Amino acid sequence: MLRTAVLVSGGGTNLQAIIDGVRDGQITNTELVKVISNKAGVKALERAEKAGIPTAVVSKKGYASIEEFNDALLSAIDDASPDLIVLAGFLVVLPEKLVKKYSNKIINIHPSLIPSFCGVGYYGLRVHEEALKRGVKVTGATVHFVDEGCDSGPIILQKAVEIQQDDTPEILQKRVMEQAEWKIMPKAIDLIANGRVTVVDRKVKVDLR
Ligand code: GAR
Repeated sequence: MLRTAVLVSGGGTNLQAIIDGVRDGQITNTELVKVISNKAGVKALERAEKAGIPTAVVSKKGYASIEEFNDALLSAIDDASPDLIVLAGFLVVLPEKLVKKYSNKIINIHPSLIPSFCGVGYYGLRVHEEALKRGVKVTGATVHFVDEGCDSGPIILQKAVEIQQDDTPEILQKRVMEQAEWKIMPKAIDLIANGRVTVVDRKVKVDLR
């Protein structure tokens, strides 16, 4: 069983897709051992509690310095002994120590086709605003391993989504979630849990059988 911890900051719709995936057998060989949020009172925590998954809140507000916050985050993760850490809308830059310790064991979902509309400052609705501003006709979502950079790690899965003439950032965000994010995130976890993902020379090989 792949011991999986999920890190969240907000609504938790990707977390819900993962919970549902484990429950309905789309994600196999996986145990959700902990959900950690950097914000108290968010809907994602409610979803975890409803599913009976242990939760923790590690908020920057509770610590005097960023170093103390980083250490608390690392120990909250270590406590769960995870084999995989999933960033599901976790809007905090991970400390280098954490990324190094869990090299190729942290995955993130990003709401665009990387390398478009990614990197520092591109998160949540901002990503869709920028895609619409640029006038691209196709966008999508990406699941990738997390490295020391921002959205720069090896890409595991991507799915394209078409942009419609009258899209607003909110409408586009919803379509990207429904058509891409909630599909490729559960699929990536299932592939990893079944030993079908390997990283060679910073590139991912997926055994799609
Ligand atoms: C998702 O769209 C996710 O791709 C994005 O935040 C949203 C979280 O929604 N993540 C990023 O932008 C990371 N750079 P959720 O809490 O409902 O899953």
